[in-house]
Amino acid sequence: MEHKGFTLWFTGLSGAGKTTIGNMIMERLQKHGAKVEILDGDVVRTNLSVGLGFSKEDRDTNIRRIGFVSELLARNGVICIVAAISPYKAIRDEVRANHKNFIEVFASCELDALIERDVKGLYKMALEGRIENFTGVSDPYEPPADPEIMFRSDLEKPEESAEKVWDRLVELNLISP
Ligand code: ADX
Repeated sequence: MEHKGFTLWFTGLSGAGKTTIGNMIMERLQKHGAKVEILDGDVVRTNLSVGLGFSKEDRDTNIRRIGFVSELLARNGVICIVAAISPYKAIRDEVRANHKNFIEVFASCELDALIERDVKGLYKMALEGRIENFTGVSDPYEPPADPEIMFRSDLEKPEESAEKVWDRLVELNLISP
């Protein structure tokens, strides 16, 4: 398949489907022979951002590092998928400004559904006050005002959300399967 180099940046609360949908898109792109890489917050925090915590300052540093690497990849023709909460709009916009092709995907989900789902058990701990500064519970999340793509993981099946993302990438002329 033909494709451009670009960053596909998933933002949203923990458990909203950033990694799930990001991986679905990655697998589909790989099947088409695309050059694709994924930078996942949970993974990046074990290497590139090891030692960083969840203060605003540390989150900003984490996001700037991820943005730096994703831009290097994207400018070399790679599709770089990012899955990170990236709660602060200003830093996401800063990363966008450093990119030629930046596509923001808002993984949206009602907090109630995330608390209900709680795959990692972190919401329970945050609500009990056993984790501080937990995004959506005791720390802010600033949603994108005008994302290129948005899905609702509490209302859509993962396949539907992934299809939405894929179709939009075709529409934007970034991939031509
Ligand atoms: S970000 O804010 O810097 O973008 P990132 O996506 O890298 O966050 O990491 C989020 C992941 O870290 C969550 O999915 C969760 O597993 C874990 N985590 C641990 N503590 C927190 C916290 N206080 N707030 C949010 N996520 C946390």
